Amino acid sequence: MSARPSVISQLGLAPHRLRGEVAVVTGAGGGIGYEAARALLWLGASVVIAEINAEAGAEAARRLADEFGRERAAFIHTDVGDERSVEALAQAAVRRFGKVDIVLNNATVAVLGAVKEVPIEKWDLSYRVNLRGPVLLARAFLPGMLGRHHGVFVCVSSTGTAYLGAYETFKAAQVHLANTLDAELEGTGVIAFTIGPGLAPTETARAAVERLAPLMGMTMAEFFELNKSAALSVEEAGAGFAAAIALAEQFRGQEISSLQALKAANPAFGGRAPASSLAGAGPAQLETARALCQGVRRTLAEQSEGWKQRSLFERQWVIRDFKKTTGMPVEAWLNALAQLEASLQAGDNPPVPLPPLERLAGYYGHLADLAQGYERNAAKLEENLKHIRAWQAEVEALRRALSGL
Ligand SMILES: NC(=O)c1ccc[n+]([C@@H]2O[C@H](COP(=O)([O-])OP(=O)(O)OC[C@H]3O[C@@H](n4cnc5c(N)ncnc54)[C@H](O)[C@@H]3O)[C@@H](O)[C@H]2O)c1
Repeated sequence: MSARPSVISQLGLAPHRLRGEVAVVTGAGGGIGYEAARALLWLGASVVIAEINAEAGAEAARRLADEFGRERAAFIHTDVGDERSVEALAQAAVRRFGKVDIVLNNATVAVLGAVKEVPIEKWDLSYRVNLRGPVLLARAFLPGMLGRHHGVFVCVSSTGTAYLGAYETFKAAQVHLANTLDAELEGTGVIAFTIGPGLAPTETARAAVERLAPLMGMTMAEFFELNKSAALSVEEAGAGFAAAIALAEQFRGQEISSLQALKAANPAFGGRAPASSLAGAGPAQLETARALCQGVRRTLAEQSEGWKQRSLFERQWVIRDFKKTTGMPVEAWLNALAQLEASLQAGDNPPVPLPPLERLAGYYGHLADLAQGYERNAAKLEENLKHIRAWQAEVEALRRALSGL
């Protein structure tokens, strides 16, 4: 077979990385879901297209079968909001492929309009597809995954904006669903996480922007220009979903983006790695930045050691809260800070990729808010806030030192 989708094949992931795995991709009759299915097939998985649009689903499966072989792609007509339909999907998928290892909750209806104007029936429809569907899929597929101690369950999120409340509300709920599953599935071999594609010009997205842009006083071109930092092609967005599944272990419990997954697979993807040039910096400046970086890393290492002493559920909550607020698990942060420190020490040039330090500083601000909401003892609160503000100031000083290089 000479199949070679271009994005997924250029990330450096092995083409048989998911060999033997079986994936159900909902709503894969077109758009990002179709591209995700295609990229999963390129990575070696077999794929079930679970789609409500019978014509689009059958056509998608036919094209994928032509590209990757009839035995690896199938269409199963499914309405994700209907319990019996999802149960029938689970049975048919297992009959066809023996098991299901991966569920990608890609199906959606995008309901647009101001909160007060969207008819309640449309809110119901959005709930049915965007939240009830993923819950039904969790109920139908997790038992099999848990029985085999192996599986990946993926929710798909979006970034909120005005006039998308009846869609975004349930997309946000999907993030919470994946977070809850992450906590419940700890130690089982089954991974849950959420991914958002960024802005990808599928027919649905283009039609949505055509209606949204004027509501926001913009032309379509202006809307796309404003959101260009989040823009990916449809193939890139789908390849990002598949790459995230291939690298699921490092994304468990997180809400990530397709771009993040593409870069995790290949840091040079799109040439968009945030970077700091150390060229021309004097030894004293480098040493100041290095010492600050070391301080930030040590503070974080001490904190994460402290988390280990907490009770199971408190620890899980803190770890999840940290990842959600800073965008990366603490291990990834410690790693990134250690690399940055080594680069500063060596005076490296070419550039060093910087972790999102503004998010770490934001995390300490968030900790200060939490402390004020929870600590009743005024003296203890003042003491806690003094420490938290010092940690935040240390990160801010590192950011200033790096921007001056
Ligand atoms: N395109 C973007 O810019 C963008 C941005 C943010 C998030 N997303 C998310 O990415 C995913 C893919 O987006 P897209 O633009 O490719 O969407 P799309 O509209 O092109 O595809 C959605 C698919 O879901 C199917 N579907 C709808 N109801 C269903 C049901 N009840 N059962 C089974 N299938 C059903 C549709 O027939 C369609 O094929 C969605 O979850 C969407 O919310 C997309």
